[in-house]
Amino acid sequence: MDQQLDHSAIDAAARALEQGALVAFPTETVYGLGADAENPAAVAAIYAAKGRPQDHPVIVHLAPGAPLHYWASEIPQEAHALAEAFWPGPLTMILKRAANIPDAVSGGQDTVGLRCPSHPVAIALLRAFKGGRGGVAAPSANKFGHVSPTLAQHVRDEFGADGSVAMVLDGGASQVGIESTIVDLSRLKTHGPVLLRPGHISAEAIAAVIDQLPAAPDAAAPRASGTLESHYAPHTPVAMQDSETLRITLADLARAGRKVALIHYTDMPATHAALRLPATPDGFAHALYAALRAMDGQGADVILVEAPPTNGSWLGVNDRLRRAAHGSTGIVHGLLNRQPGA
Ligand code: TXA
Ligand code: MG
Repeated sequence: MDQQLDHSAIDAAARALEQGALVAFPTETVYGLGADAENPAAVAAIYAAKGRPQDHPVIVHLAPGAPLHYWASEIPQEAHALAEAFWPGPLTMILKRAANIPDAVSGGQDTVGLRCPSHPVAIALLRAFKGGRGGVAAPSANKFGHVSPTLAQHVRDEFGADGSVAMVLDGGASQVGIESTIVDLSRLKTHGPVLLRPGHISAEAIAAVIDQLPAAPDAAAPRASGTLESHYAPHTPVAMQDSETLRITLADLARAGRKVALIHYTDMPATHAALRLPATPDGFAHALYAALRAMDGQGADVILVEAPPTNGSWLGVNDRLRRAAHGSTGIVHGLLNRQPGA
C-alpha cells in the first residue's frame, strides 16, 4: 500500500496545512476539505470556501494513536472502547471539548467531533502534519448543502475555479461513499449515546462495544448540519419511489415528454439516462454520490431514485437520499401536469 503513496505530494500538503492553507484529501467515507484545527483563520477559510454558516461545527481528524485528551475533556471509558474498536475508520465521536479547541472548530458549542480516518493517504497526511500531533478540521469537500465528493475530480469540480483550495490530494474513489457515523457521547451520563448521523458503522455495531444502543436525536442533541432536512442535494430535483410506483411514473413521464435520469438497482425500462447500482447497502453507498453527480449532469427534468429497502443496514443510504430529495416534494406531479419547457 505504502508504495502507492505520493510522499512528496503528501509532505507538500502537510506543509501547506501548517502554513494555514486549505487542502482537500481523500478519506474512506468522502473527500474532506482540511485546515489546521488550531488555526482559527484557516478554519474560517473553510467556512468561506464552502459557503457554510459559521455556527456549524467541523470534525477534527486525528492520526492513529493521537491522544484524545488533548482535544476532549471528561472522556468516558466508552469513547476509548469505540476508538479501540472502530478507529481508524468511519466513526465520529462527539465529546466535551478541551479548553484549547478554537470556537471556530466547535461552532461555539462545548463539544468537539473527533475521527481517525482509515484511508492510507489521510493517515499519511495526518502523520506528516505537525509530526502527527496536529488535528485537521475537515468537513466534506463540497459547497454547503451539495452532494459530498467521493473522487478527487468531484472536489476540483466544486472548488477548481475559485482558488480557495491550495491542493487536492488524489486517493481514488472513497470506499465507503457516505459520511461517517456520528455518535454523541458528550451527554452520556444523562442521555446515553445518541446517533446524530447514521453511516457504515451501525447503531447495533456500536451497541456491541458499549452495551448501549445509541438513541435517535432528541431536541437538545448537538446540532449537525448533515442532519438538516435538505442536504446532500444535486441541482436537478430528486424523487424517490418504490420499484412498482417507479415503473408507472417512468411510463407517465415518457408519455409527457419529460427527461428522466434514473438511479436504480432492479430491472427498469429505458430512460434518457440511467445508472444501475449494486443491490447491496455497501455497494449502493459506495456508488451513490458519484451517481447523483453523473445524473445531475444529464440535463434531465428529474433524477428518479428507486427507493432501497428500509431495513437496518440501508439506514445510512436512506438518510442521505431522503435529504437529497427533501427540496423536491411534488416534482413528479408537477412535471406531469405542466407542459415540457414550462
Ligand atoms: O465522513 C465524514 O465525517 C466526512 C469526512 C471528510 O471525514 N466529514 C464530514 O464532515 O462529513 P461534514 O462537516 O460535512 O459533516 C460533519 C457533521 C456536520 O453535520 C457537523 O455539524 C457535525 O458533523 N459535527 C461536527 N462537530 C460536531 C459537534 N461538536 N457537535 C455536533 N455535531 C458536530
Ligand atoms: Mg458535509
